[in-house]
Amino acid sequence: MRIPPLADARRRTDELFAILVPGAIYDRPIPERHRIIFYLGHLEAFDWNQIARVPSARPEFDKLFEFGIDPPAGCLPRDQPSDWPSVEETIRYGRLAREGVDRLIEQGAASNQLLHVAIEHRQMHAETLAYMLHNLPPDRKIAPPDLEVRTSAAPIAPRMIEVPDGEATLGRKRNNGFGWDNEFDQHTIGLPAFSMSKYKVTNGEYLGFVQAGAKPPHFWFERNGEWFQRTMFGEVPLQLNWPVYTTQQEAAGYAKWTGKTLPTEAQFHRAAQGAQPENCDFRAWDPIPVADPPNKSSDFSQLVGNGWEWTSTVFQPFPGFEPFPFYPGYSANFFDGEHYVLKGASARTAACFLRPSFRNWFRPDYPYVYAGFRCVEN
Ligand SMILES: [Fe+2]
Repeated sequence: MRIPPLADARRRTDELFAILVPGAIYDRPIPERHRIIFYLGHLEAFDWNQIARVPSARPEFDKLFEFGIDPPAGCLPRDQPSDWPSVEETIRYGRLAREGVDRLIEQGAASNQLLHVAIEHRQMHAETLAYMLHNLPPDRKIAPPDLEVRTSAAPIAPRMIEVPDGEATLGRKRNNGFGWDNEFDQHTIGLPAFSMSKYKVTNGEYLGFVQAGAKPPHFWFERNGEWFQRTMFGEVPLQLNWPVYTTQQEAAGYAKWTGKTLPTEAQFHRAAQGAQPENCDFRAWDPIPVADPPNKSSDFSQLVGNGWEWTSTVFQPFPGFEPFPFYPGYSANFFDGEHYVLKGASARTAACFLRPSFRNWFRPDYPYVYAGFRCVEN
């Protein structure tokens, strides 16, 4: 029996490794993360470890490729390419792990929940690997022949939209389809009225903040007095009506500069009820203008897609949280007050994560995520 969603997820991650030029797999595009070779082994080791629960024929690889890293500032990894196995060995391990996992699935040895864990874990890496490869120089990657970068110079008119007081429903009902441990329990939060920007904050708006002295975002660079931004496979002049991608600290700094704040997780939920997805599920490699498609109504634009959105909410368990017994650290390791919740989706977020209860989280100074923000007035 073939499991199509797992096969789809494998195809996604296989395609990402295929855009690398030879040798680039030992690069470390993000200093706080492992070299790319780790991920080639990790995706297969994770599935094997979660589904088989016994050592494979290469137990040292099951361990080596088991977990990624998220070090605090000043604790960067210092391993060398020679500390890692060869590509051939890693591919051979991966092939055996996949065959073993497929056999176990065929025998019915993997619960539905574990299958979802394997599929969604891999789809998450399909996105985080894209951030990582974004940081490789263009000559380390092969661009697809049909690559489209959607730009437009049409100006946008930013404005605030009022959300009346009412309730936000967060989280997921139990026994109602798969969710990660941090998505439970479902609960409601009462909110006073607030207003939030119709569009994501743009590069053009953020440029004013930079001109007033703020540090430029990681995706930007300056050449001969002109601003440019790195796209997945090259660069473009700074696109003033694309969403700006920033850290949570930069987003909060901009909001404060304009006399506003970032939305809380609950405010985002309340505003995003019934929002339609736009530019997600691997539709593009790069953002699109924040007002695409043009939306003249009083609805918010792109609350689900075209870039995650930072909130002011520290990642914490919902009331009733219980860690997954088979993966206790998945969320609980990050309830340390050092991570903030992001909501929405980016162009590289798989369709399975568009459910409203899905929560993403990163450190507030992590600059590599396809994440922007909008501002709120309380
Ligand atoms: Fe992982």
